[in-house]
Amino acid sequence: TPPDTLDLDNIQGDILSGLPKKTQSYIFFQIVDVTKFRADLARFVPFVKTVAGVLKDRDLIKEHKKKGHKTLIPLVGVNIAFSHLGFVKLGIDDSSLGGATDPFIIGQFKDSTQNLGDAGTQTTSGLVPNWDPAFVQPLHGVILISGESHETLHKKKLEIECIFGVRTIQPSIFEVTSLRGDVRPGVESGHEHFGFLDGISNPAVTGFDKDPNPGPVPVNPGVIVTGHTGDLDQATRAAWAVDGSFLVFRYLFQQVPEFNDFLQKNPIAFQDLTPEEGSDLLGARLVGRWKSGAPIDLSPFKDDPMLAADPKRNNDFKIEGEINSQFRCPFAAHVRRTNPRNDLEALPPPVGPISVQKNRILRRGVQFGPELTKEEKTTAKTEYGRGLLFACYQTSITNGFQFLQKAWANNPKFPLGQTQPEEPGLDPLIGQGVRSMSGTDPNNEEKVINGMPDFIIPRGGEYFFSPSLKGLRETLAS
Ligand code: HEM
Repeated sequence: TPPDTLDLDNIQGDILSGLPKKTQSYIFFQIVDVTKFRADLARFVPFVKTVAGVLKDRDLIKEHKKKGHKTLIPLVGVNIAFSHLGFVKLGIDDSSLGGATDPFIIGQFKDSTQNLGDAGTQTTSGLVPNWDPAFVQPLHGVILISGESHETLHKKKLEIECIFGVRTIQPSIFEVTSLRGDVRPGVESGHEHFGFLDGISNPAVTGFDKDPNPGPVPVNPGVIVTGHTGDLDQATRAAWAVDGSFLVFRYLFQQVPEFNDFLQKNPIAFQDLTPEEGSDLLGARLVGRWKSGAPIDLSPFKDDPMLAADPKRNNDFKIEGEINSQFRCPFAAHVRRTNPRNDLEALPPPVGPISVQKNRILRRGVQFGPELTKEEKTTAKTEYGRGLLFACYQTSITNGFQFLQKAWANNPKFPLGQTQPEEPGLDPLIGQGVRSMSGTDPNNEEKVINGMPDFIIPRGGEYFFSPSLKGLRETLAS
């Protein structure tokens, strides 16, 4: 068989390399004039940054730093993706992207209450998720713009709006809503709003990541990029649907003061920890990592900033020797739930071992909203919306995002096959349903926390497909 090479000039940049960003805008749009849109798209395509383009930008950033510049180099990255409704509107047959029951075809609006566990309200037209009104409307696509500053971003946004005739008498798109995310300031840069370092564990992709850090087994390219080895629908993808990826977007609000208050009120009494250290330990056991990023499987009861900062060690763990134990790390801890490592890969027969290859996702999110105010810290109540513009790529939403949320995070009995008497409970960050979990107290693994507050509230989202440059040029634009 010929080597499975990836054409980095044909794949949109956010997928494999992540658009470099300090700030990022997501413009959600409806197509209002199909003929004009297809013509406008032809003029938009040269704006789209490919993986090869991002790699060039990375070299520029390196060179700029080497020269001793303290300021950021002006850089911008643009990508585009379409929902099933978008392809329908364009009259493009997207049946090779999924059958009638595929989440991409159903759309996240329906999937949210049917499968993801989002809360909803019964109306005359059925169950409607409790989302921001913008996401209750049909969305046809999303344009992503990343940059090093708001100024660069704003300029590019105006240029793009100009291409699609936004604010003229003949626009081809209607902007339903625009969301902007920003990396957090100062020492919190790279940390999500609860304070934990994020973006550490993403799968290395064979044929792209040449020298992956020690950690989980790299995934076949087709787990992330359509039409390649590992894409379960490789044989049936239409030519235009090759070299693309499904982009899952979720608008996730985080209840930060409430989360902090919960930790403060429930410190783990363990060894000689002070109450403050006991609260930090509880936080680490909910996530599976310390705020620094150090995995608790390797450093269970004390933070280890040196371990956290070492890319050769900070993802090199398997939850070893813990198949039937949650002494070091709770079964439900967010990172154990969303990548169960040895819980499945070393599960003894007859149930195991089970590979998690097809369930891996590449995450690309960015924080939104302000830092906590003094008042919010005092009252322990959220006043200003903040959270994560969650985004991830995969070639199957059924096996990727949807599976992680439904079969793992929301499943109180996972991991299956463990023989301890206690029920593991839900992922304490993203789990939806009856929110309880065991294993927070290493002295008493069976102890259950019931009625865990909602720390993360979904307020919108959609499933998109991010096509190749060739697909954009030759099939979508005209
Ligand atoms: C890892 C936070 C939503 C899937 C992590 C980590 C943090 C985190 C702190 C550890 C750092 C790292 O390994 O990169 C959050 C927050 C969320 C959120 C605050 C919402 C506001 C989600 C959702 C999913 C998800 C919705 C998918 C359903 C993952 C995966 C990992 C991860 C796959 C890596 C696990 C591993 O390989 O070890 N998240 N997350 N996260 N999260 Fe989330």
